[in-house]
Amino acid sequence: MANHLDSLEALNQARSLQEKLEAAHAAVQESFPFIVRIAIAIHDPKTDTLSTYLHSSGGANPLDHYQARMDEAPSLKQILDQGAPRVINNQVTFEDGEHEHTRRIGRAGYAASYTLPIFNEGMFVGFIFFNADRTDVFDEFVLRQIDAYGHLISLMVISELSNIDTLSAVLKTTGRMLHVRDPETGSHLDRMSRYSRLIARVLADQYELDDAYIEHVFKFSPLHDIGKIGIPDRILLKPGFLNAEETVIMRTHAQVGEEMISDLIESFGLQNMQYKDLLRNIAACHHEAVDGSGYPRGLKGKEIPLEARIVAVADVFDALTSRRPYKDAWSNTRALETLQQLAGETLDQDCVDALIGNLDEVEEIQRRFREDAFG
Ligand code: C2E
Ligand code: SIN
Ligand code: SIN
Ligand code: FE
Ligand code: FE
Repeated sequence: MANHLDSLEALNQARSLQEKLEAAHAAVQESFPFIVRIAIAIHDPKTDTLSTYLHSSGGANPLDHYQARMDEAPSLKQILDQGAPRVINNQVTFEDGEHEHTRRIGRAGYAASYTLPIFNEGMFVGFIFFNADRTDVFDEFVLRQIDAYGHLISLMVISELSNIDTLSAVLKTTGRMLHVRDPETGSHLDRMSRYSRLIARVLADQYELDDAYIEHVFKFSPLHDIGKIGIPDRILLKPGFLNAEETVIMRTHAQVGEEMISDLIESFGLQNMQYKDLLRNIAACHHEAVDGSGYPRGLKGKEIPLEARIVAVADVFDALTSRRPYKDAWSNTRALETLQQLAGETLDQDCVDALIGNLDEVEEIQRRFREDAFG
């Protein structure tokens, strides 16, 4: 009997998608040592932007925490328009590319690249990039084998994302039942999730956050108030300020949300889902305050998980700039002054600075996701 070792054996052991990608990369490198980086970018159809997601390169990633509009990446758009992968056998010609992402790739010195679109049942999901450290390596023979790896990696990405989508779908249905009543509109969730992503991206280098973390903050932040489903209408929709007894009931939404999410993770068998704690932390801790005055636990400073500190700033900023049954919408100027006052008291200073330092992007999000007729 011939002896053969499964070159992808590591996939059986790998647990996270990052580990699986690294295992697949190691297998690719056995046959094609010139493939020095494999990276994945995910597409957000609502804003038509592409965000870097994962990479395996054993070194610095020139595109970490990077986000680009599809219409600013004509060569990537072309891949979709033509429905065919892209082979660049001499990336040096891209060195002087006029776009940020091409310049960065040029600086890193990748000599050639192969880019495959990822589709899930006909829906465009993102791209896989194979980068080489030598020119003219992608011939028909090589590409045929790399295509197989590409599709394997696509399946890994799709299955990871569909775990999250299953959970999001369940929570969205539950959430829709809630939003029939809740004054928080869909556009509130669209905005606050993008403020959350912006803050996470700005803090990424300082806090060593990877792109998957940033993307999960974005996906999970709209679920922060899921526990409000347990709050009676007379309190949730009260057209005025809450009294002490009503406030106590209102504040149970954080713990109720945490319990709902724990239940859902268990009933859907998602215990192995990466970043499930991130979702639970967002629901449980988005009203904790850095000075310990928050609820439900009264956690202080860094005891509050970073994702909850991020979402708190995004949530308060959007609550202030939106109309509520108990208040009018404030101007950005007034809301930002208030955030500045709350920074270091209830809100995290770094998270507030990240938002305030990027007003252009904040305003862009506001323009794109204006209040709807029900807001
Ligand atoms: P929400 O309306 O989404 O507000 C989220 C958070 O934004 C609030 O958490 C608070 O930290 C901040 N925020 C909202 N409006 C203001 C404001 O006018 N000034 C300041 N400084 N901060 C503001 P909080 O207070 O724990 O409230 C949680 C949720 O409880 C609110 O979510 C809302 O659904 C409800 N709620 C709070 N106060 C009232 C109220 O007086 N009347 C009614 N009907 N609901 C309230
Ligand atoms: C692109 O990669 O989107 C095109 C290259 C460029 O024009 O910089
Ligand atoms: C990348 O390689 O990560 C994107 C840049 C490009 O090839 O257009
Ligand atoms: Fe809340
Ligand atoms: Fe909210």
